[in-house]
Amino acid sequence: MASQSPNKGPNVPAHVPPECVGSFNLYKSPEMRPTPFGDPFAAVGKLHEGPSVFYSPETTRDGQGAWIVTSAEDQRTVLQDGTTFSSYRRIFSSAIGEDWPVIPLELDPPEHGKYRSMLNPLMSPKRIAALEPFVTAKAVELIEGLKARGTSAEIMTEFAFPLAVSVFLAFLGIPDDRLMEFVGWANELLHMGPAERTAAAHKILGFLDGMIAKRKTEPGEDFMTFLVQAELEGRPLNDQEIRSIAVLLFIGGLDTVATAIGLDLYYLARNPDRQQELRDNPDIMPSAVEEMLRAFPSVTPIRTATRDVELSGCPIRKGDLVSCPSMASSRDPAEFPDPETVDFNREDNRHTAFAYGPHRCLGSHLARRELIIALQEWFARIPPFRIKDGTAPITYGGFVFGVENLVLDWS
Ligand code: HEM
Repeated sequence: MASQSPNKGPNVPAHVPPECVGSFNLYKSPEMRPTPFGDPFAAVGKLHEGPSVFYSPETTRDGQGAWIVTSAEDQRTVLQDGTTFSSYRRIFSSAIGEDWPVIPLELDPPEHGKYRSMLNPLMSPKRIAALEPFVTAKAVELIEGLKARGTSAEIMTEFAFPLAVSVFLAFLGIPDDRLMEFVGWANELLHMGPAERTAAAHKILGFLDGMIAKRKTEPGEDFMTFLVQAELEGRPLNDQEIRSIAVLLFIGGLDTVATAIGLDLYYLARNPDRQQELRDNPDIMPSAVEEMLRAFPSVTPIRTATRDVELSGCPIRKGDLVSCPSMASSRDPAEFPDPETVDFNREDNRHTAFAYGPHRCLGSHLARRELIIALQEWFARIPPFRIKDGTAPITYGGFVFGVENLVLDWS
């Protein structure tokens, strides 16, 4: 995939030497396109046969080029240095023609650190433990529901997404009687064309604005109340700050968790022996979930260089995009012995699914618990399962790689 090209091609900036040009497109590489599932992770793992850093002329959805960083060591260098490699982007507000960052993801130091310190207590072990009974009950309800309907199901819409959205709603303090409406908004926002994205963004913001107003007069024990009452440097957050944070929690915790459930079940469906291993040793579920996060990570953090800098001999210029696919770093043989093997007992598994540095995933502990509970409850209720004959799982590329359709059969 990182084919070295002696010819630079039309979209390569003048400062990129020909020997630094390769090809990796988050949207159009064969491995990344919506496709009946091959093994995109193994394909990306092969990047380690090439250089640690190379320039790919077409990488983003709108065809922009970027430096692709494949080694875990170079990704750490980029992701730990928010001054040289900026997180400035407008992934949500650009969909509605506005210009504000989602907080804290699109902020750089020193602003980022202030918000992050304020938000860290939100994900305290105590708060996550308080959510666990809800996560368990919801997982059980969804699995029992699809089991009652038959011996096969499309698990992204019937299990993974509803679970991830429900947990978000519980986190915000919202009863989930509007669950399917939210699932629809999430789907339109993340996977549809520009018109649907814009409409969904407006609906989500309208809803969150209503919640902010409500929690100002009717406080509860939830995340929105936390934000409404929070103080930053001695002052309350304003409404724009609150919605910028709430939106990020919505988009940050949806696709990622649902995708991870989908990728794990997809792998297990193709590997009955691994299912049996988990049935025989239920205690290894936490380390199995960690290993599947390593082997099938979905997010590609992307940064913009704020100054000229050299990385592994490549001349990165101010303004260049720098992309750090976790699916590459998590299969770096320099850090993970035998990276292509999915080893449920892997030791010292410091995988990169939640990234590195100051922007490391705020929701990682919650995500882990959601995944462990989802799989534990699935295995407790569903007998050996496989991909339904005649169906082919569909995946899509992008900054969050994902699963769109996965029909499992346990007849
Ligand atoms: C398996 C599930 C998840 C994965 C793989 C994942 C992955 C990531 C990654 C790689 C980043 C860093 C992005 C960057 O540096 O540009 C990130 C940031 C973030 N994630 Fe997650 N995430 C997951 C679940 C969640 C959940 C459940 C929540 C919230 C409830 C969440 C909230 C956030 C937030 C708020 C940030 C921004 C942190 C910051 O900028 O300081 N994530 N996530």
